[in-house]
Amino acid sequence: MLITIEGIDGSGKSSLMEGLKRELADLSPLFTREPGATWVGDQVRRAIAERVDPVTEALLFAADHAAHLATLVGPAIRDGRIVISDRYTDSRYAYQSVMLDGVLPEPLAWLRAVHAGWTIAPDCTFLLVLPVEDALARLPARRTREHFEEEEILSRVQAEYLALAEEEPGRFVVIDALGEKEGICRFVAGEIRALCGSRPPRHRL
Ligand code: TYD
Repeated sequence: MLITIEGIDGSGKSSLMEGLKRELADLSPLFTREPGATWVGDQVRRAIAERVDPVTEALLFAADHAAHLATLVGPAIRDGRIVISDRYTDSRYAYQSVMLDGVLPEPLAWLRAVHAGWTIAPDCTFLLVLPVEDALARLPARRTREHFEEEEILSRVQAEYLALAEEEPGRFVVIDALGEKEGICRFVAGEIRALCGSRPPRHRL
């Protein structure tokens, strides 16, 4: 079972992941992330920092995804484990569609073709959605911002995410990320349990 968590920077994915680690500990899921679950991800971070051209950037994110699948996601799925990934293929479809706009004629179709034949599709994707101003206000003020973290870019990225969700309503669960953190976490954990046919443990330690 492959579950992915998506949303723009500042949408609360990291705290949701932390909450799910507590709520779903009895299911021993593999918690993972993109980019950066393998050494390829370190190169991706370097590429982001150095602002390489958008095609190089897209291919590096895709390479990180390939290494992530080969070393972590694929083996865990074959072992019948639940995998929960903070960002996954839809991050490329949403962010790189925007970054490649004007560079390639049909960015989304190109990105899909790059993934075709080897990626593993998620069973369910939770998309955290909120006004971009609120997302930006949540980003730590002192941290240098990545080039993705600008209002105009994030608005377009979020619009891409919503279009993907509209295209595949059976896979996406769209969540109001302005809601209370604990409530969002309990809801997502409950949905994941329902998908896996699992009940919460009766006695919490
Ligand atoms: P992430 O590690 O989630 O952000 P943070 O450094 O805040 O923890 O991702 C880094 C940035 O990379 C983020 O702005 C989203 C972007 N990104 C893409 O553009 N494409 C992708 O395929 C992925 C996985 C991330």
